[in-house]
Amino acid sequence: MVIQLSNKLKSLFIPETRVVVFTGAGISAESGVPTFRGPEGLWKKFRVQDLATPEAFQARPQLVWEWYGWRRGQIAEVKPNPGHRAVSEFEKYFVDFTLVTQNVDGLHDRAGNRKLLKLHGDIWEIRCVQCGTARMDFTLSFNHLPPLCVCGGALRPGVVWFGEPLPAGIFDEAVQKAEGCDLFFSVGTSAEVYPAAYLPSIAKEHGAYVVEVNIESSAAASCADEVLLGKSGEVLPEILNYLSRASLD
Ligand code: OAD
Repeated sequence: MVIQLSNKLKSLFIPETRVVVFTGAGISAESGVPTFRGPEGLWKKFRVQDLATPEAFQARPQLVWEWYGWRRGQIAEVKPNPGHRAVSEFEKYFVDFTLVTQNVDGLHDRAGNRKLLKLHGDIWEIRCVQCGTARMDFTLSFNHLPPLCVCGGALRPGVVWFGEPLPAGIFDEAVQKAEGCDLFFSVGTSAEVYPAAYLPSIAKEHGAYVVEVNIESSAAASCADEVLLGKSGEVLPEILNYLSRASLD
């Protein structure tokens, strides 16, 4: 696949460019993780209010855990794809680089990204609703649902549910990075869930060059300077090729 990049975008391929990559479920689609809103999306088959709200967990913690257990099982079977791997190479190339993800699947960590802000938490974290203790836990099947903390409180997945605030400080840091960057990529997100979806327009308003990478135009396209239509697992490695060539010039 050969994608056409504008000269403006290519001119930004220097290590000094301050870069933010903002990702959503689409970047993990080619690994086999379902997205939320497409025709095959999770929210077409399941109801948010039954599974992804604090009220749902209070009413039916076992059902919520079973669903997250099923998703953990699905994610445990898959691997980062060339899109994730390209983003981890971007982190090595650009001196000032931040990855902001809405994804909870941990695939960016597994691809090697470390400068990573997780806006919606992590499906592999578990947190006590009573004492707040949190830890990473890769268990696929718990003996008791919901699993219990040593304090006796119920443990819940460390993800952000609808109606909950984002993890303290993380969104503020993402806003700061969006305000201060020169180049902002919005990748594989419908840009429909707020406050995360404010980030592309924040970057644009502060002068960044905004590029959307998606199989179809999303809400983020309205503030994008350039839309690269295609699968992120194909478009991002192409961008990486340009970067590698730029560093040889
Ligand atoms: P969505 O499911 O809303 O959007 C996925 C986007 O990825 C769509 O715009 C697709 O066109 C695009 N897409 C699909 N396959 C692609 C591919 N191979 N390459 C590039 N793009 C592709 O997912 P998000 O925008 O991540 O929130 O959803 C945002 C939030 O809504 C999620 O973090 C989750 C969900 O409810 C919480 O869990 C709090």
